[in-house]
Amino acid sequence: MTDIESTNRDDVAQHELESSLTARVVRSFGESPDDRLGFIMTSLTTHLHSFLREVRLTEDEWARGIEFFTAAGHITDDRRQEFILLSDVLGASMQTIAMNNPVVGDATEATVVGPFFTEESPEIPLGGDMAGGASGRPCWVEGTVTDTAGVRLAGARIDVWEADSDGFYDVQYDDGRAAGRGHLYTDDVGGYRFWGLRPVPYAIPHDGPVGELLAAVGRSPMRASHLHFKVTSEGMRTLITHIFVEGDELLESDAVFGVRDSLTKKFVEHAGGSSTPDGRDLGDSAWSSVRFDIVLSSVPS
Ligand code: BEZ
Ligand code: FE
Repeated sequence: MTDIESTNRDDVAQHELESSLTARVVRSFGESPDDRLGFIMTSLTTHLHSFLREVRLTEDEWARGIEFFTAAGHITDDRRQEFILLSDVLGASMQTIAMNNPVVGDATEATVVGPFFTEESPEIPLGGDMAGGASGRPCWVEGTVTDTAGVRLAGARIDVWEADSDGFYDVQYDDGRAAGRGHLYTDDVGGYRFWGLRPVPYAIPHDGPVGELLAAVGRSPMRASHLHFKVTSEGMRTLITHIFVEGDELLESDAVFGVRDSLTKKFVEHAGGSSTPDGRDLGDSAWSSVRFDIVLSSVPS
């Protein structure tokens, strides 16, 4: 046998070794009593083995991967969820959201919830201030909540939360403050309005393994400036979304791929001393305003 023939024979044997292992692993999930789980694990192992074989993963790289997941586990606790962060920077969160919130007419698009939502938040009256002492430029936010037929939705609950001008959410401070967060309800004609803060760009938590990964591949941890909304109304699909600031230079490079063109809004800047929509006296302080009309789709029956 020539050298070439023996190399070819070894290659065939190697290919057979690898593909038969994949087939055995995939088959092992074939009898799962839970059909859906069996289907997911079959597909997962098929793609995982393809990936390993495509990149020809070395044993050192495999060990490095295990170290990465171990570090992600160690840094995760009640306040820090490194695995969600990983899902976010891989675009897996946005892909799951895209698939599970299909386009329905002109219903407002959904985007990532992020790690800083809390079930509890102060109730603020219509026109009230959700900043709660958080630093930043005051911003008047107003709009309506309707269904896709344009019917105004009274009594819809709107939760809002955002970072302060230093780029931190209240829950990132150790003093238990509730600031830059609140909830309110739409009025009889589906209208809402409140004072918040003009959003600023900030970095997602990047002092852990996900931050290390981003740095290693030359990616920025910065998120485009945004204000979070969660909107709930009886019989309607709950909407979790943000609005972004038109003209923000980070719109194209948002670390978690959360930006949607339809969610990018014009924030109008107003000089200090100019009159405010509700007569609030802001002294010499400049302020911003934005309109966000929210359209909910109904829950499929
Ligand atoms: C956020 O917008 O709050 C966020 C989203 C994903 C990862 C980190 C933060
Ligand atoms: Fe955020």
